Amino acid sequence: MNELIGKPIDRVDGRLKVTGKAPYSAEFPLKNLAYGVTVQSTIASGRIQSIETHAAESLSGVIAVITYKNSMSLHTLTGGDPGQGKFGERDLLPLQSDRIFYDGQHIAIVVAETFQIAEHGASLIKVEYEEEKPVFIIEDALSDAFQPASALGGGEAQTHRGDADKALETAEAKMEQTYITPVYHHNAMEPHATTAEWTGKKLTLYDSTQSVVGSKNAIAQILGVPPDDVRLYSYFIGGGFGSKGFTWAHSVMAPMAAKHVGRPVKIVLSRQQMFTSNGHRSRTIQKISLGAGKDGQLISVKHLTTSETSFVDEFVETAGAATKMLYDVPNLDATHSIVRLNKGTPCPTRAPGEAPGTYGLEVAMDELAYQLNIDPVQLRLVNYADKHPQTGQPWSEKHLKECYERGAQAIGWAQRNPAVRSMKEGDLLVGYGMATATYPANRSASSAKIQLFPDGHAVIYCATQDIGTGTYTILTQIAADGLGLPMASVQCKLGDSKLPKGPNSGGSQVSASAGGAVWAAALTLKSKAIQLAIADKESPLFGQSEESVQADGGKIFIAGSPEKGETYAQLLTRKGLPTLETEITTNVSTREGAPPAAGGEKKGGDQESSAVKADEGVDHKKYAFHSFGAHFVKVLVDPTLGTVHVDKIVGVMDIGRVLNLKTATNQIMGAMIFGIGMALMEGTIYDPTNGRVVTRDLTDYLVPVNADMPAFDIQFIDIPDPYISPVGARGIGEIGITGITAAIANAIYHATGKRVRDLPITPDKLLS
Ligand code: MOS
Repeated sequence: MNELIGKPIDRVDGRLKVTGKAPYSAEFPLKNLAYGVTVQSTIASGRIQSIETHAAESLSGVIAVITYKNSMSLHTLTGGDPGQGKFGERDLLPLQSDRIFYDGQHIAIVVAETFQIAEHGASLIKVEYEEEKPVFIIEDALSDAFQPASALGGGEAQTHRGDADKALETAEAKMEQTYITPVYHHNAMEPHATTAEWTGKKLTLYDSTQSVVGSKNAIAQILGVPPDDVRLYSYFIGGGFGSKGFTWAHSVMAPMAAKHVGRPVKIVLSRQQMFTSNGHRSRTIQKISLGAGKDGQLISVKHLTTSETSFVDEFVETAGAATKMLYDVPNLDATHSIVRLNKGTPCPTRAPGEAPGTYGLEVAMDELAYQLNIDPVQLRLVNYADKHPQTGQPWSEKHLKECYERGAQAIGWAQRNPAVRSMKEGDLLVGYGMATATYPANRSASSAKIQLFPDGHAVIYCATQDIGTGTYTILTQIAADGLGLPMASVQCKLGDSKLPKGPNSGGSQVSASAGGAVWAAALTLKSKAIQLAIADKESPLFGQSEESVQADGGKIFIAGSPEKGETYAQLLTRKGLPTLETEITTNVSTREGAPPAAGGEKKGGDQESSAVKADEGVDHKKYAFHSFGAHFVKVLVDPTLGTVHVDKIVGVMDIGRVLNLKTATNQIMGAMIFGIGMALMEGTIYDPTNGRVVTRDLTDYLVPVNADMPAFDIQFIDIPDPYISPVGARGIGEIGITGITAAIANAIYHATGKRVRDLPITPDKLLS
């Protein structure tokens, strides 16, 4: 089992990607393809009074213009299982009415022979509006507009234990502050894109999505066609960061337009449109109160978050999610309220909840540490949670103390002078900061199928997808180790909704979910092959016990005697089998309060295998599954210019077993880079007069570039979590962005003595 798993193996799809041969969703040149460009509202609230399409329709090359007046009817998507798909705007199906809820809402689509003609046509549409007074800013909303957020994704949006107010009153030390994070846009490198083709009643979609099954189901239901008549492909995805986790209007408008014109239609959103049409992270206002003894022992924590949602759906940025589990505090309020604004619906974004929430909490902890003159690491050790403080469950595995120790060692924490503004390198102020990282270790039901062929190669099939993180690679490693095959003999097929149902690429769950299923399928298939051999008089393994046989290098043989055995290829060829295969479903869920998953999905044929039994035999409800880590950061601040350079980041992550050291390191590094963006530069700016996004491209919406990069030291504890799955790996997609922003903010405080509590920490805030 330890041959390939864990190794820093290059991506199996790397060559395809760098040679341009990996097809992304906008790159299927279908015959007779037409191009769709959408027209967007230029007001934020009101109605369309008139929409003049004649000029566009008369343009040579324009095939059709579709508005609410001539659109097909759609069906509201119901049902709460995210695996069944989630449309981002429940009450705003595209092109169904004249009602406008936000600037940038799609109000028409122009279909033309070329993209350029469609764009020209879209520019000719004239709209008159009846405007209503919009509301864009949380603070401008009337007080009765605030509503308590309902439960989200199985988690509680309102958590209480003990009496936080009373405990706060009696605390020897108190820290009360408000932290604000701005709106963020995901800005995946690959734009959102959908190509749709009808063949009779059957629909084929090429859609950039984090959920081939969920998007297929959502689009089918909205169009009112049976889900089995829709097949969705998403072979390669250039990042999603949450924005491709929900289905958005363009993915429905492409098949609507294709039906309307009787030709395949492709819609690719422009970079500008990606600031209005595929979600964003809500702004958060986080009021945090900490009450502690002089020794730093927390007795009360309050984390009250207000975030925004749209008028057409609800989404809650659960900034208090980590607060309820991170520290051992007896009295706690972690609450969320939401306000409707005239903006599009927010959605999951790079560790939704935890990323902004750990910024607030971990800066607050740093403030308390300075107030009490306690080392920030020590403050966290004093409040270390040995079990889940809300549920009392034991952690499946937790090695956070070791993360703190190794991180502190690597950055030279003990050698710093903790007094603010005390350290310099030349003219630059030097600062050190740290923070805790944490993210739930989610696992959900997943199926996987593996086939062995007479030439000795195997193929994995799973309807999950690789959003750019390395899923193809790690599943190949897992199957190859499970079957005893070299990497080169295993192929991995993902990104096709017709394959056995796999998980969404959201909530850092694919490695544990699909990885667990692929591992069980590999062991089941190996066992099938061995059973076939030991029952076959012509096999050198005839009459042996299954336990005495092992597999390696494509061969099954008596343990310790590699010469006594045969290859999979020899076995299948002799038996005349075109394939030997297994399809299994591991029906495991680690989510708090989640239903037992896979609802209604039929199970594959090999459920009784010992591999599946061993996996499902663990009582997953007994444990709390979380990953942990610690970030330590060194910054350099120019006191004259107020500019900050992150000089070094040490991150030590406890994420169970590392599946691939290279892709895992890249995951954490990418998340840290997003953390630098959150801390120093990112944030969407809206025009306060009309609610329009001002920063609508990557010139104005700043993200870190190579020149901003620090030295990275990324380490893993690498202790397998035997309860998450027999593979021992928890997901790693999101934890790296938790805590990092606070660590940078804390380092800036140490360097400058300035505590900036609204992100991003731009030079003007440090100079004022
Ligand atoms: Mo992730 S933001 O749950 O796609």
